[in-house]
Amino acid sequence: MKYRSVVVTRRGGPDVFRIVEHALREPTIGETRIRILATTVSAPDIQARYGHTPFPPRIPFVPGYAIIGVVDAVGEGVTKAAAGDRVGALTITGGYAEYIYLNQDELIPVPVALDPAEAVTLILNYLVAYQVMHRSARVRSGDKVLIVGASGGIGTAFLQLGTLAHLTMFGLASRSKHHILVEHGATPIDYHTQDFVEVIRNAEPDGLNAVFDGMGGAYVRRGLSVLRHGGTLVVYGNPLSISGLGAPAGRGSRVQPAPEQEARQSVRNDGIEIQPAPVRRRLGCALQAARRTQDQTHHRKEVLSHGSGRSRCITGERPDSRQRRSGGA
Ligand SMILES: NC(=O)c1ccc[n+]([C@@H]2O[C@H](COP(=O)([O-])OP(=O)(O)OC[C@H]3O[C@@H](n4cnc5c(N)ncnc54)[C@H](OP(=O)(O)O)[C@@H]3O)[C@@H](O)[C@H]2O)c1
Repeated sequence: MKYRSVVVTRRGGPDVFRIVEHALREPTIGETRIRILATTVSAPDIQARYGHTPFPPRIPFVPGYAIIGVVDAVGEGVTKAAAGDRVGALTITGGYAEYIYLNQDELIPVPVALDPAEAVTLILNYLVAYQVMHRSARVRSGDKVLIVGASGGIGTAFLQLGTLAHLTMFGLASRSKHHILVEHGATPIDYHTQDFVEVIRNAEPDGLNAVFDGMGGAYVRRGLSVLRHGGTLVVYGNPLSISGLGAPAGRGSRVQPAPEQEARQSVRNDGIEIQPAPVRRRLGCALQAARRTQDQTHHRKEVLSHGSGRSRCITGERPDSRQRRSGGA
């Protein structure tokens, strides 16, 4: 039996994708074979495709940072998962595929009642936002915060979690996406035409409690300048795009890198009600989903969801079985 994956064949734009067929094999010792139900299409996939990340995956690789799937077969010695279990994983790569092979220790149980396309966005976007907000910045009800990149995948997770935490939010976004921020009660600032430092200093002369920064670069220094004494700026963006991190923190404020490793441990959302509202596409639409994510034309999470695509996509490429590989990535 065969399965398909979307392979990055060289560094570059979405056009470097190629659909490749692999032979399905039996899992090895400690390994599980998972039929993927949904996977995220996100900014880190793009950075990996271009090689703009500290440790880019070697070419060829299958992108896809997080998955939800069903255990299809288990190898010898597997005790933590069984065929039929619904599971999730932070895969880093390998998600743009119909099947993936993962060690049993990488899996987290996922309730079958959850929609896979919605639940998969928790593993990356919401977990980053949750950890930045509650574990790094440790926000409290009534805190005033700035979200840099508020209209994006992680940005909209911040908006939802920030509403639930009763924060006063300012957010940077292109004007065409300001309605998303307004829907969440945040004050939108157009970073193309407005000086956010000036806007925030006028609105909040005492400064903000926290800045959540997914961009880095000059935003680190400028973000620190709108913090109150003792405020916290958390940088969770790609370190290669952060030029100002070497600068000392100003006004007694803290700069914190966001912890990522705990993302492996749990997909529970602590009873919080959120509405991820992803855009669902079929695996064959990976190119279109990646293009929308890269062009920043999306304002919801793009998810490859098997069996529930809402648009019919033609990749123009035929499955290539010459590059048969046994694993997902
Ligand atoms: N630490 C971690 O574990 C982790 C995990 C995942 C992602 N990340 C990083 O988080 C960042 C965001 O990821 P994402 O998936 O949320 O990306 P995304 O969905 O593509 O969103 C990007 C956001 O950045 C905004 N933006 C673009 N250029 C900007 C500029 N010059 N100034 C201010 N805002 C700008 C966009 O605003 P408009 O579209 O409104 O213009 C959009 O809101 C990426 O750097 C990614 O590498 C970190």
